[in-house]
Amino acid sequence: MCGIVGYIGSRPAAPILIKGLHQLEYRGYDSAGIAVGGPDHPQLQVFKAKGKVDNLEANVHRALPLPDTPLTTGIGHTRWATHGEPSETNAHPHLSMSGDLALVHNGIIENYQLLKEQLTEFGYTFKSQTDTEVLVQLIDYFYQKNGRQLTKAVHQALDKAIGAYAIVVMEKDDCRHLVAARKASPLVIGIGKDYSEFFIGSDATPLVEYTHKVIYLDDEQVADIRIGQEVQITNLDESSADVTIKDVDLDISALSKGGYPHFMLKEICEQPHCMENSMRGRVICREDGLYEIKLSALNHFKAKLIRARHVIIVACGTSWHAGLIGKQLIEEMCRIRVEVEYASEFRYRNPVIEKDDVVIAISQSGETADTLAAIQLAKEQGALVFGIVNGVGSSIARATDTGIYIHVGPEIGVASTKAFTGQVTVLTMLSLALAHALGTLSDEAFQQTCHELAAIPRKMETVLQQNDRIEQLSGRFTYARNFLYLGRGYNYPVALEGALKLKEISYIHAEGYPAAEMKHGPIALVDKEMPIVCLTAHDQLYRKVISNMQEVQSRNGRIFAVVTEGDDEVRRIAEEVIEIPDTMPCLLPLLSVIPMQLLAYHVAVKKGLDVDMPRNLAKSVTVE
Ligand code: M6R
Repeated sequence: MCGIVGYIGSRPAAPILIKGLHQLEYRGYDSAGIAVGGPDHPQLQVFKAKGKVDNLEANVHRALPLPDTPLTTGIGHTRWATHGEPSETNAHPHLSMSGDLALVHNGIIENYQLLKEQLTEFGYTFKSQTDTEVLVQLIDYFYQKNGRQLTKAVHQALDKAIGAYAIVVMEKDDCRHLVAARKASPLVIGIGKDYSEFFIGSDATPLVEYTHKVIYLDDEQVADIRIGQEVQITNLDESSADVTIKDVDLDISALSKGGYPHFMLKEICEQPHCMENSMRGRVICREDGLYEIKLSALNHFKAKLIRARHVIIVACGTSWHAGLIGKQLIEEMCRIRVEVEYASEFRYRNPVIEKDDVVIAISQSGETADTLAAIQLAKEQGALVFGIVNGVGSSIARATDTGIYIHVGPEIGVASTKAFTGQVTVLTMLSLALAHALGTLSDEAFQQTCHELAAIPRKMETVLQQNDRIEQLSGRFTYARNFLYLGRGYNYPVALEGALKLKEISYIHAEGYPAAEMKHGPIALVDKEMPIVCLTAHDQLYRKVISNMQEVQSRNGRIFAVVTEGDDEVRRIAEEVIEIPDTMPCLLPLLSVIPMQLLAYHVAVKKGLDVDMPRNLAKSVTVE
């Protein structure tokens, strides 16, 4: 979703801002802009463009000769439209009517209409349809009133604003100074050597090239950032807050495509390695050949976790699908009742949360607004909140009581792939560790499952070897307007995930269904045009799924099946089969999801679509 960058120092700001915006492109956006200024410069200069950052870059290059510009301060933004269409006028940064201030903003100011009416009465006029322009005018109102003290004006304005925001404000009069603030939307401040320069980002991605020393602004905090000085942080009530400087550890090579045509393909192919990273130091094979699971998150909270009578998993999108697999794992291995909830629904219900309940929040980005709000609600009601997160230091990682990072590295492609297998890996380790502690799984079953889990990365490599075949056969499906994905048991969430992947990047409508449910409605859609993806690997429901496939076959549906190596029976029914190595049913999703990801990827590529940045989608959904 929207991205923020900022810079103050002695280098030309524009190239740093543009590069940072490129690095934030993965979040999804539809317009971009920067504002730059400098000491002795009479006005803030604003550049905007609809569409890609490349368009903005071209505008800036035309207007601003580089690199000998004295414009050493700036803010930039990629906008994902919420209020008002994607256009140059609505793109950020927004200037105040006086031209004294420029602002970039992620989030939504919910009471902007009311504020706009009040500001109009004071003579303010507006050019855009955005809530952000209202906020900069509101800051300007207090700025002009209180003797041009920017930090104070930001405090006064935020006191009136209702909603979520991460903002950075710059002022024409003092280009050695920026003010940043956040509420429910992340912001990171990178510190250059001896405070000689500062880099700001809505996540750490654009900063790591310059510094590893960062401050993660906490909720409801305002940062006063001035060259040559330590950052001053105050809470929204103007009391001073502690400043903690952290080391950020982000592998910069993960931010490039590394020879692959798209981030999505790179991330699909990285999965064996990612899974190994996720298990490193956690799934341990001792010298005697026996396995143990070590999860540091369980050290302090093990007693509470094993006392849980009820687990509620909250998540969105792909993470929610991982949660459905988590439900089956925890129920099967630990015999604890589990519910899986869409975070967006959970947060607005009055859910029953009892003493000793545990809420597990799953999120790749760690910034999803609905999941954060669900965590807040669960905490207010006294639940222990456990996070399964990829974004290190993210808002969800910090908001949860404890948790496990999935450690799959930055995921740039908007369609989540390696994060899904990372989440399922962590859920499997967590279920095994709890089951072992509870005694609900026999030693033999525990050892067998750990042993097989450790073997999955090699088996994933075998599945990935079928990439070329999947590419070839994907060409046959680009005509389709609808797809059906069928699976049962552990493969039912994989069917949902396969359908979501296809929808997101190929814009083909697809539905995932529990295979047996099909005859209660969706079967009416089946004809010779309809591709049906059947997840039919060997498990206890294998025969049942074959019956469901026969129902499809007799209505001329085109079946594409994922089967266990050596399966001849399905080959006789399906038009195409992709084989995956044999494994235990509870580990099947880790293998069977890979052909789903590759199929969606190749169909989208064959349709000539922007796989890494599909239309209308954002990588981190930081608004509700
Ligand atoms: O960062 P999160 O895991 O919290 O994000 C949740 C969903 O927005 C995300 O999984 C989305 O559905 C992806 N685009 C799926 O590919």
